[in-house]
Amino acid sequence: MTNKSHRGTIFLEDARVLQQVEHPGRQFILRVHAPKCARTALPGSFAHVTCDPAVPMRRPLSIMRTDPEDGWIEFLYKIVGEGLGHLSSRRPGDLLSILGPIGNPFVLNPGRPRPLLIGGGVGIPPMLFVAESLHKQGGDWQPFVIMGSELPFPFPVQASRLSLPGLSAQATHGLAILEDQQIPSRLASWSGLPGCHKGYVTDLARQWLDGLSDEERDQVDIMACGPTPMLRAVAQVARDYALPCQVSLEEFMACAVGGCAGCTVPVNTAEGVMMKRVCVDGPVFEARDVFPPAA
Ligand SMILES: Cc1cc2nc3c(=O)[nH]c(=O)nc-3n(C[C@H](O)[C@H](O)[C@H](O)COP(=O)(O)OP(=O)(O)OC[C@H]3O[C@@H](n4cnc5c(N)ncnc54)[C@H](O)[C@@H]3O)c2cc1C
Ligand code: FES
Repeated sequence: MTNKSHRGTIFLEDARVLQQVEHPGRQFILRVHAPKCARTALPGSFAHVTCDPAVPMRRPLSIMRTDPEDGWIEFLYKIVGEGLGHLSSRRPGDLLSILGPIGNPFVLNPGRPRPLLIGGGVGIPPMLFVAESLHKQGGDWQPFVIMGSELPFPFPVQASRLSLPGLSAQATHGLAILEDQQIPSRLASWSGLPGCHKGYVTDLARQWLDGLSDEERDQVDIMACGPTPMLRAVAQVARDYALPCQVSLEEFMACAVGGCAGCTVPVNTAEGVMMKRVCVDGPVFEARDVFPPAA
């Protein structure tokens, strides 16, 4: 099923559903037992999931959390149409066919120990994965996480104990799961959710960057996943502050293993603009290569 270059790195597993929890706004967190995928997934990897025997095409979902010891992986998804609608009715004990982990992950640069992680909507999962893996690595990493959503966040949210001077006075809350790991986070939403900055994730990003010294700002590496307009705005922030930036793209996918060229996007390379496959050449790309400045 997978093409030759991915044999041995992408696994096909019959994954047992362990948990399926519904959150407001037709959002679901799904945990499945997929030990090979759990062992090898990296932050930014995704899996191609058979939602139901009645739905012929798989659906790509980012991997949000893994437990390599217990062999589970977790997804967060919001129902868009038929496929994810069927997925939401799968119950603990059901088997799902999972193909993964797929794709190039986010690349962490120890020379820039202040990653700024920005997730919007269903782009939140890979950013949580990056944050938790930095926590597990320990060392000098000092990530700051910004999450944006127009739906209630599908995680416990609490008033932050980790102070961050210079941010909008409305932005008082962060994700409890990150607070427990001493990772500061702040939330943005136009929906008037309590404790959230009423505006865009990029407002908070600019406020935080403005509050850093020049030396601290030189240590920042931006990583983002979310809707395309958000990624374009994040790429602009990176340009304005002359910072490196990686973005994870979404495209319609059929095979998800590089065989069909159904997911190609134009990417700037040293040889000029080339069509690259989001599934295996991405989904993570350098922001400057996929969102060049408007001519
Ligand atoms: C790498 C990657 C990671 C993703 N991670 C997540 C995630 O963590 N959580 C989440 O909720 N969503 C994620 N998505 C988007 C998700 O795959 C689509 O929303 C989903 O396929 C829609 O399926 P549906 O059956 O609900 O909708 P339908 O509209 O019924 O889908 C119809 C067809 O369109 C395709 N399609 C529709 N929207 C998209 C889209 N945005 N991207 C790719 N294919 C699409 C489907 O694969 C299917 O073939 C990701 C997409 C990609 C490419
Ligand atoms: S989906 Fe087939 S090449 Fe990417």
